[in-house]
Amino acid sequence: MSAMITVNVELGDRAYPIHIGAGLIGRTELYAPHIAGSSIAIVTNTTVDPLYGDALRAALAPLGKKVTTIVLPDGEAHKNLETLNQIFSALLTERADRKTTLIALGGGVIGDMTGFAAASYMRGVPFIQVPTTLLAQVDSSVGGKTGINHPLGKNMIGAFYQPQAVIADIGALQTLPPRELAAGIAEVIKTGAIADSEFFDWIEANIPALNDCDPTALTHAVKRSCEVKASVVAADEREGGLRAILNFGHTFGHAIEAGLGYGEWLHGEAVGCGMVMAADLSVRLGRLDETSRERLTRLIAAAKLPVKAPALGADRYIDLMKVDKKAEAGEIKFILLERFGNTKITGAPDEAVRATLAASV
Ligand SMILES: NC(=O)c1ccc[n+]([C@@H]2O[C@H](COP(=O)([O-])OP(=O)(O)OC[C@H]3O[C@@H](n4cnc5c(N)ncnc54)[C@H](O)[C@@H]3O)[C@@H](O)[C@H]2O)c1
Ligand SMILES: [Zn+2]
Repeated sequence: MSAMITVNVELGDRAYPIHIGAGLIGRTELYAPHIAGSSIAIVTNTTVDPLYGDALRAALAPLGKKVTTIVLPDGEAHKNLETLNQIFSALLTERADRKTTLIALGGGVIGDMTGFAAASYMRGVPFIQVPTTLLAQVDSSVGGKTGINHPLGKNMIGAFYQPQAVIADIGALQTLPPRELAAGIAEVIKTGAIADSEFFDWIEANIPALNDCDPTALTHAVKRSCEVKASVVAADEREGGLRAILNFGHTFGHAIEAGLGYGEWLHGEAVGCGMVMAADLSVRLGRLDETSRERLTRLIAAAKLPVKAPALGADRYIDLMKVDKKAEAGEIKFILLERFGNTKITGAPDEAVRATLAASV
């Protein structure tokens, strides 16, 4: 049996383990301690169910529970109230009760929707995350943010709700489309940049292995990213302060996503480019040295992520950043880099932001 690493998210009575390793989807003993009731509902989509649904059902079979699979349409466009209601309808039809465990099998879209369904079905049922994209393994499955999109805004309806466990099967990443892999690597690079300069060095040295989907390299990348996110979340579960550092690159990145229209660039691609822009602004404001900015930009390019921003026009960028959820009373907050491993959250003079926007396209 292959090696498994466990990272614990320390949240008192809501603490939970993140298990990381190859082949974990098929391991019955990882699910057994977390399933108290007599039934399980797997929530997945039309892409992931044919790939990993059978392995998960085979792992659950020895537990002797009633297992239902809810297969949703694939895509961010379906992360909405209508699809959420599809989950509720299936749960009610199957007479799921307060002890039914939901298992999210898929990427961040499935994880966010299943988590929110679990938070609200009968005022809360247990759920387990089985993330199958790199982005979901390093980011969305950790931290308890769940939710859906509204036609007027992304992730606007949701809840903080922690899973019983996260089971991150590195083997599942082998079937990821290359663009999705790169998008996940963007969040890994972010983690190194904001929190751990040694990890940043490690990513630089191992970027070819990560691009090649090497299981040993991916296991380490997921482990370290989860450790950092878990410690930030443990210190600030509901985003009162510290948790905001996880948004490095996201102020510019969200503007790119919204400005181009969601889905044009993947979130991770926009964050990759957004980090280049945030580093540029950090240098302009005298917080970061030029060599570090160059290193970060080179690494993002090596991860096959975009480093040139789309030309939306400076006014449009600034408007979009002002309506971002993280802006406070219309003042844009930037997460700036001060060396690798250190950040500073601050407003920035309009001229500096415009200079960065002009230099980034
Ligand atoms: N909750 C949080 O804290 C948080 C953090 C970051 C992102 N998110 C959310 O996560 C979502 C993005 O997640 P994502 O990047 O995983 O996208 P996704 O869930 O859309 O998955 C990307 C694509 O890969 C497919 N896929 C999944 N696993 C696969 C596999 N192993 N092999 C082949 N294809 C596979 C999916 O079906 C989909 O087509 C967004 O909705 C975002 O808002 C949430
Ligand atoms: Zn992100």
